[in-house]
Amino acid sequence: MATMESLISLVNRIQRACTVLGDHGGADTALPTLWEALPSVAVVGGQSSGKSSVLESIVGRDFLPRGSGIVTRRPLVLQLHKTEDGQPEYAEFLHLPKKIFTDFSLVRKEIADETDRLTGRTKQISPIPIQLSIYSPKVVNLTLIDLPGLTKIAVEGQPDSIVQEIESMVRSYVEKPNSIILAISPANQDIATSDAIKLAREVDPSGERTFGVLTKLDLMDKGTDALDVLEGRSYKLQHPWVGIVNRSQADINKNVDMIAARHKEREYFATSPEYSHLSSTMGSEYLAKLLSKHLESVIRVKIPSITSLINKTIEELESEMDHLGRPIGVDAGAQLYTILELCRAFEKIFKEHLDGGRPGGDR
Ligand code: GDP
Ligand code: NA
Ligand code: MG
Repeated sequence: MATMESLISLVNRIQRACTVLGDHGGADTALPTLWEALPSVAVVGGQSSGKSSVLESIVGRDFLPRGSGIVTRRPLVLQLHKTEDGQPEYAEFLHLPKKIFTDFSLVRKEIADETDRLTGRTKQISPIPIQLSIYSPKVVNLTLIDLPGLTKIAVEGQPDSIVQEIESMVRSYVEKPNSIILAISPANQDIATSDAIKLAREVDPSGERTFGVLTKLDLMDKGTDALDVLEGRSYKLQHPWVGIVNRSQADINKNVDMIAARHKEREYFATSPEYSHLSSTMGSEYLAKLLSKHLESVIRVKIPSITSLINKTIEELESEMDHLGRPIGVDAGAQLYTILELCRAFEKIFKEHLDGGRPGGDR
């Protein structure tokens, strides 16, 4: 089993293939449906709730644009690929194939530039995702989608309609039944006012696909704690809540690196009088492992439906190919052909996973 590709990275490859084809027609095929059928984790929360910090913590790298106002203005599909120990860490964008990024400050710049390329520096938002892969021995296999922060007021220079546009965009991701919702709320605000929980509750009333994350535990008023939330009494979800302590703004200004930040976080939970009894299920490293495990088990359950969608896609692509003739060299046709080949390959590998598939047993 050791050589078998992980289910998550398989799904990542289908996702990338669908995105590429999305730009080149193919909208009449089952591909959009296939994309929707692929499980992934969508990160939602109010502005400044700590979304970017949680993502960077999960990756163990500084790489997201920051600043005031609405920084995330396009969805960022972030695919994490665990590589063998000793391998170099690098990033790659789908829109810049073959360009390898080893300097993560350039990744940050490219996300900002690519956002502006589409939104024209007008600070508008766009639903067209940016797709980024990070390869590293230090990550877990996981796909996360960073979304614009929910907000109640437009900032200067933006039309009031942006508030509603952001909500609709975020909603379009989290209402998909295959979406796993990472709902981020800051502990220094009343959970009853959390935008993330409000939206999650609407689209997932039973809480079966929502993971509640509570950030900023270190910023709570002295003498108060978040045990009612973390122990599921304030707001019960099917999955346990995870508490997080990210870098503060002062830490960021002082360039505290992610390794030191993780260490500090672990220390915080281990020594906290309130939370030490929960320390084994708190923190960003635990969250990353929990999500990876959950994503893999969801994919495993979905293999039969993904396979049947792939088969449907194969059929539709074949008939489209017949229609076009054998269009190698023609852009769209070549893309279709590539996808067709990929689908055939996936079908085969998924079958192997099903046959050999004891739960979680492929790594
Ligand atoms: P986003 O807007 O949801 O992406 O939020 P960010 O991750 O950019 O965080 C907003 C601000 O809150 C930044 O200044 C972070 O340093 C700070 N912050 C986020 N999480 C925590 C936390 O757990 N503790 C502390 N002290 N600050 C945090
Ligand atoms: Na929130
Ligand atoms: Mg952010």
